Amino acid sequence: MKIAVLPGDGIGPEIVAEAVNVLNALGESFTLEEAPVGGAGYEAQGHPLPDSTLALAKAADAILFGAVGDWKYDSLERALRPEQAILGLRKHLQLFANFRPAILYKELAGASSLKPEIVSGLDILIVRELNGDIYFGQPRGVREAPDGPFAGAREGFDTMRYSVPEVQRIAHVAFQAAQKRSRKLTSVDKSNVLETSQLWRDTMIDVSKQYPDVELSHMYVDNAAMQLVKAPKSFDVVVTGNMFGDILSDQAAMLTGSIGMLPSASLDKANKGLYEPSHGSAPDIAGKGIANPLATILSAAMMLRYSLGKTEQADRIETAVKKVLAQGLRTPDIWEAGTQKVGTREMGAAVVAAL
Ligand code: IPM
Ligand code: MN
Repeated sequence: MKIAVLPGDGIGPEIVAEAVNVLNALGESFTLEEAPVGGAGYEAQGHPLPDSTLALAKAADAILFGAVGDWKYDSLERALRPEQAILGLRKHLQLFANFRPAILYKELAGASSLKPEIVSGLDILIVRELNGDIYFGQPRGVREAPDGPFAGAREGFDTMRYSVPEVQRIAHVAFQAAQKRSRKLTSVDKSNVLETSQLWRDTMIDVSKQYPDVELSHMYVDNAAMQLVKAPKSFDVVVTGNMFGDILSDQAAMLTGSIGMLPSASLDKANKGLYEPSHGSAPDIAGKGIANPLATILSAAMMLRYSLGKTEQADRIETAVKKVLAQGLRTPDIWEAGTQKVGTREMGAAVVAAL
């Protein structure tokens, strides 16, 4: 089994190194092959997603991804910015289904920004569509405004788009995920305002007829943002589009104490996938050895489970992570009085030891 390892920028290399140590400690015969991506790809080969990196990602059975982005690339033209690497991988490999679980580990209940009674036991799954929406919709650009009160002024524009088959395929993924959990699915949209969202909602209702065992409900995105902090445990599986999913998944992540804890999987229709922490490259703490590697380590566990068929090894990693938290080890993002502050490498080593 071949795993493409794409560390990227900022804290990416540090956290991926720990996940690689964990994979190597499993005693399996994986082939790990590393390639530059994001700002690192731009530095090495003049492009955030070099052809050789894309070719490796295509040839591999799974991809372990760190993070991309750094302020120093903000002035580059958009096509050369680090973020294009992850967007390009998602699009080229048709990774349309993004799973972002938000689980509150009981040891971290005090690290959440919400009261323990509101969040304890939180376990929700956000299923975010990843190949469409305003992220990729054409036309987009900057032009002279053709009409309206600001006609003639420079204006930026993007297009929100979803087709019925595109919504259907993510709907099936979400309904099937709900079947494996508590059979409750909340579809989030803005159908009181947007045509795209009305089509999304109608399609969800249509697909729901094939899943009579799943209870489908709908929520406007503004209300969903409010309910996520008011009564987060009222959700189980949430399905939504690319843009709303981007925002709500960061919000849900934070309820668990730290975005540094949350893994994600981005899958194609054959369950080939890219696995990355839900957080970004955090250039402000890059190289300091204090980043939390657990989201990336847990992403490696998701990779074993979803793409490589190694459920037992995935369980082993998740159990090891819980053990390390129970031992009281904490990186600064999840530290609280009475626990032991450790760095990235110590945290990774502790997980390896717990395995
Ligand atoms: C994420 C990130 C990306 C996104 C960026 C880096 C393009 O925020 O994975 O959530 O917006 O999808
Ligand atoms: Mn995001």
